[in-house]
Amino acid sequence: MGLNVGAWILLFLSSLALLSLIKFLHKVWWVPTRIKHVFSSQGVKGPPYRFIHGNTKEIAAMKDQARSPFTNISHDNLKSSKKLQAIEASLQQDLISEHFIRKCSGTAFTIFKSSDELKSDELQKGIEDLIMETIKERGKIMAVDPDTADFLGQLVKANHETDESYHVSIQDIIDECKTFYVSGDGTTSLVLSWAVLLLSIHTEWQERARHEIGMIINETLRLYPPGIAIIRKNEREVKLGNLVIPANVILHVPVLALHHDRTIWGEDAHLFNPERFSEGISKATKNNPSAYMPFGFGHRNCVGSNFATNTAKITLAMILQRYRFTPSPNYIHSPVHLLMLVPKNGVQVMLHAL
Ligand code: HEM
Repeated sequence: MGLNVGAWILLFLSSLALLSLIKFLHKVWWVPTRIKHVFSSQGVKGPPYRFIHGNTKEIAAMKDQARSPFTNISHDNLKSSKKLQAIEASLQQDLISEHFIRKCSGTAFTIFKSSDELKSDELQKGIEDLIMETIKERGKIMAVDPDTADFLGQLVKANHETDESYHVSIQDIIDECKTFYVSGDGTTSLVLSWAVLLLSIHTEWQERARHEIGMIINETLRLYPPGIAIIRKNEREVKLGNLVIPANVILHVPVLALHHDRTIWGEDAHLFNPERFSEGISKATKNNPSAYMPFGFGHRNCVGSNFATNTAKITLAMILQRYRFTPSPNYIHSPVHLLMLVPKNGVQVMLHAL
């Protein structure tokens, strides 16, 4: 005797619900538990994984704590750095929770999207539509004048390439535009803000800066790198030293912690001492290039690094030619990590015309 239509629908819906439940448990329980096991079997320990939340609550609490202002200006007790080091201590658990967050917010499991995720999708679509409009406009201009070949122009040209190895998809162009916007906007002005703060405190360096500007930019980028960590995701299982890292783990390279490491920089690691760069970066890092990476490292390092340092040098030189400056009494030292390492309350200095 066959099943009637209602029973078939019921069977179909129950199978769908069961499948969703299995998928859900796979993501929020099986994947983090397996990654945790892989790491703990190699001696890498961390705080326990909490169902659904991972360690996101602890991370949020640490971030909140790090947001309270400093009572004095010190580059030593950089709270973000402490937070980072603490997070470092529980590296694998962060990896698990990050992994979990990404996995859950990905498209594979879209049945229960939170209102935040819906808003985020809406904003993402808004940004992509805006970029798409710009790309279309550029396409129209290039149809009339094909030599409009700035960076966006080159990408649009590559979109028309028939040779597969040179072809760039529209989604790739959109992603490149986003990367350039986020990477290029704000970073250089942040370095300048931190450099002005450091020079306003260490006024003796203002005179020297007129001759030694490169060292000052390097030292500012060491103490206050806008990007406090470099993030990579491994597609395949890889071996890192003695550690086996399973596929799809999000790795944080803690730039800020490396820049403040006493074993690399010496006892004055937390002090402003541009002199350490007097004989170049390799001497300052004792030939350890990965100890200093404000612009990242390897194949995906910053394409704008020369442009950014030159802009910062020229701007700072122009300020120094006209002014000397001291910290404003209103300045409250509050470096916080909000996507980048930013002065939460801005940098206020008193300018005195020369
Ligand atoms: C002081 C200023 C700047 C700092 C500290 C900085 C830092 C960084 C860092 C840490 C990365 C990631 C590197 C990695 O993952 O290994 C990066 C990537 C990038 N930066 Fe910058 N950046 C700065 C200015 C700029 C400017 C002005 C531009 C554009 C004109 C720019 C364009 C890019 C691009 C396109 C990438 C992605 C490169 C890739 O994925 O291949 N950056 N930057």
